[in-house]
Amino acid sequence: MRDVETFREHVKNLGLSLEAEDRIETAPDSPLAKPINIDGFEVGNRWVIHPMEGWDAETDGNPSELVRRRWRNFGRSGAKWIWGGEAMAVLPEARANPNQLLINGDTQDGLARLLEELIETHRQEFGTADDLLVGFQLTHSGRFSKPFRKDRPEPRILYRHPILDRKFHLPGDYPLISDDEIQRIIERFIDAGRIAERCGAAFVDIKHCHGYLGHEFLSAYSRPGPYGGSFENRTRFLREIVEGIRGATSNLKIGVRLSAFDLLPYRPDPEKSEGLKLGPGIPEDASGCLPYEYGFGTDCQDPLHYQLSETERLIELLQQLNIRMLNVTAGSPYYNPHIQRPALFPPSDGYQPPEDPLIGCARQIEATAALKQRFPEMVIVGTAYSYLQDYLPHVAQWAVRAGKTDTVGLGRMVLAYPTLPRDTLEKGVMDPKRICRTFSDCTTGPRQGLVSGCFPLDPFYRKLPEAAIVKKVKASLR
Ligand SMILES: Cc1cc2nc3c(=O)[nH]c(=O)nc-3n(C[C@H](O)[C@H](O)[C@H](O)COP(=O)(O)O)c2cc1C
Ligand code: SF4
Repeated sequence: MRDVETFREHVKNLGLSLEAEDRIETAPDSPLAKPINIDGFEVGNRWVIHPMEGWDAETDGNPSELVRRRWRNFGRSGAKWIWGGEAMAVLPEARANPNQLLINGDTQDGLARLLEELIETHRQEFGTADDLLVGFQLTHSGRFSKPFRKDRPEPRILYRHPILDRKFHLPGDYPLISDDEIQRIIERFIDAGRIAERCGAAFVDIKHCHGYLGHEFLSAYSRPGPYGGSFENRTRFLREIVEGIRGATSNLKIGVRLSAFDLLPYRPDPEKSEGLKLGPGIPEDASGCLPYEYGFGTDCQDPLHYQLSETERLIELLQQLNIRMLNVTAGSPYYNPHIQRPALFPPSDGYQPPEDPLIGCARQIEATAALKQRFPEMVIVGTAYSYLQDYLPHVAQWAVRAGKTDTVGLGRMVLAYPTLPRDTLEKGVMDPKRICRTFSDCTTGPRQGLVSGCFPLDPFYRKLPEAAIVKKVKASLR
């Protein structure tokens, strides 16, 4: 789109309520340049880097040089809030891939150095890191665990999900995680909190999003026993971890990344798919499972729409637990990626976008705004801005200025263009050659067993042989 007017026209034609400011403002006038106070810590600006899982750590869970490079990039981005860096698994069998970072006694020194490198890079680039807030994201991959071999899923599930079990070929007698095992997992999260504090992390995120274990607890309506059924039971996992970490640490803050809503799983339309070429996404058939009690923040009568009443209840609980940091995201990359990370080009195991991806951006921005309005004292990170591309800063400025969110998080955009926050705040311009075009290669590559990274736009990866493989895979899908 050639200018902001054309962008606005397009948004209007789609009937969306997004707005975009006329131009990119620099510091100190930009709303994105304003500091924000979180429980006594002054965060230097409103740009946040979202966590992005790596597929390139050592197999013992320690950071590799590729991981360190990515974290140094986060440090020089200019963003003042690094939300987790990337998901770190609390147990080897909890990894989403065999090269995911692990957080335990054996990786503590490596993680401490990783964090220090990020902070030191930031200090060198910006003169101080006193206003930089960095935390770790703690995860158990649950239903999407693939811990030991890239081609062998080893799901750990809390309840039978009529659609996801079918979609991911789980037999009817596939075992559920027992209550005893849940308690052991909780202990590992508490240990991980202790280790994070020793590493120097300012906070931990108890991940509750994207279909992973924490998120699955929230929709475990049909699970019997102390961890399923009632709202109180479905949030017991979260409460026990928070209480445990508070008892085991002295100064560590806690945040939650939450899929604030979820919708039905999708699949490529078989009528419109040809060979490996994917059709547009269509919802999975849910006619046999209505009312739909398998999604958190999903309208159970009409699961193609969201319903935020339980989400609001959860945020009330976070407030009771003295948690103020909330990173709002949605859905899952495994079964409805267009909800979670709007893109024009699907990953290899996805589907063609079933809607204009701007609708996906707007859906998350609107839900986040509704939550911000309802809970003004929460400090909220907004998600799903990368597809806005050339107009990302224009929309981000509007969203923060209008109080739709407190801060704006960057996911894919920062893999493609690490210094976007700095360039916009200092120069008021972006480098068009580095803008993420949502090619999804950073998802396709790892799903094909390759390392993490932006293969098309980051010159470092373009030189690697992996880039040619990603190209080949994509060509075969066309
Ligand atoms: C390669 C990749 C890895 C990701 N890994 C994580 C992760 O570890 N934890 C998490 O909460 N979200 C993860 N996400 C989701 C992003 O944080 C973000 O929510 C999503 O990409 C949408 O934001 P964007 O439009 O700015 O990309 C990942 C996304 C990508 C593309
Ligand atoms: S591969 Fe690069 S351009 Fe494509 S979605 Fe990922 S970050 Fe964006």
